[in-house]
Amino acid sequence: MSERSHRVRVYPTRANLSDAVADQFASVVRESIDQRESCHIVLAGGSTPRGLYERVAKRSDIDWSRVQFFWGDERCVDPSSTESNYRMAREALLDQVPVGNDKIHRIPAEKNPVDAAREYEATVRAALASAPEARFDLVLLGMGDDGHTASLFPNTAALHETTRWVVANSVPQLAATRITMTTTALNTARQAWFLVCGDDKAGKLTEVLEGPRSTDQLPSQLIQPTDGELTWHVDTSAASLLTLALQEPA
Ligand code: 6PG
Repeated sequence: MSERSHRVRVYPTRANLSDAVADQFASVVRESIDQRESCHIVLAGGSTPRGLYERVAKRSDIDWSRVQFFWGDERCVDPSSTESNYRMAREALLDQVPVGNDKIHRIPAEKNPVDAAREYEATVRAALASAPEARFDLVLLGMGDDGHTASLFPNTAALHETTRWVVANSVPQLAATRITMTTTALNTARQAWFLVCGDDKAGKLTEVLEGPRSTDQLPSQLIQPTDGELTWHVDTSAASLLTLALQEPA
């Protein structure tokens, strides 16, 4: 992993992680609103974040009127599909809290992928135009057992995109195309948080955090906020092979 700083916070269980990160989520949102009158959040897909979203949805200490939501990636499916990252976040969080639809920026992944990526990039840039800086306050990410994050999969073209914020990424290992934010976008984060749970992630997490930098094979290593903080929130199962002393028992 790059020598740039990052924190690894280890939680006993997935549920403990979701509880604690929900508290930290609320703190980040409040601080962002206090300092910048807004909070721009990139949501992660997959299954791990659902517990966090469900807990955050129950909080009464967040001014949702100031929050805008984006997605780091999306499968090329209809928003009603059970595969949709948008649908998961809608069910677990967005349908439970008073956020205006004008502040929920869905990736139009039912469209032609190239068109959808170009359209979403314009949407993101327009939404951030009113922010003090064109950057995200909080980026949530998962990590696959192959080291991918968002839809930045090993040995795919999107890993090397340095200008665009959103691209259509052909993923041969899935025989699919995904829409994904690039590291150019994701690394604008003030706070970038990985949420990683389960012993099936332990080996790859150790490679990403303790192994040599090998970003084509370990795309999660590409996440290094340019001017922000990176935190890995992991449960003890995922952390079981880590030797790094910098683990912080949470
Ligand atoms: C997706 C996600 C992807 C996910 C990882 C981990 O669209 O699937 O963006 O990057 O975060 O694959 O997924 P789990 O949380 O389900 O393990």
